[in-house]
Amino acid sequence: MILPIYTYGQPVLRKEAEDITAEYPNLKELIDNMFETMVRADGVGLAAPQIGLPIRVVTITLDPLSEDYPEFKDFNKVYINPHILEVSGEEVAMDEGCLSLPGVHETVKRGSCIKVKYMDENFVEHEEVVEGYLARVMQHEFDHLEGKLFIDHISTLRKQMVKGKLNAMLKGKARSSYKMKQVKS
Ligand code: NI
Repeated sequence: MILPIYTYGQPVLRKEAEDITAEYPNLKELIDNMFETMVRADGVGLAAPQIGLPIRVVTITLDPLSEDYPEFKDFNKVYINPHILEVSGEEVAMDEGCLSLPGVHETVKRGSCIKVKYMDENFVEHEEVVEGYLARVMQHEFDHLEGKLFIDHISTLRKQMVKGKLNAMLKGKARSSYKMKQVKS
């Protein structure tokens, strides 16, 4: 089932999300719905707060990049209760966007390497060191679980430049090709 994506201004996007247990109701269905919603909206990542749930669940697909990066073929993963333990490496600048901020794209600097712990869909714990594009996507998505958005990382000047678009979102006037749940819609 495709779920509406909560856009900028929705309070849930600013909440710190909580860890869940294996008893969380209908988790399998929720994960399936998150994948479907993300893929249909052409996103590479989706965090549960973006569908209105303040819980630590994130889906990531890198399969759409597999034409250029064959190693990402069929990369579809769910991260439960993820936490970043360490960010290291060189700061890299890259253009980012977010399904909760349609039409906004800005350059964001992030560390190139992270150490993360998370659980998979079977609640088996993993600890990994991740680099490159996946480290970028993970930092963006896991930020959502801390109530942070990528625009929190841009300069005051750049923020000023996108203010018009942000204000439009606060009035429920965002436009996108997918179903959204806007503040006043
Ligand atoms: Ni996002």
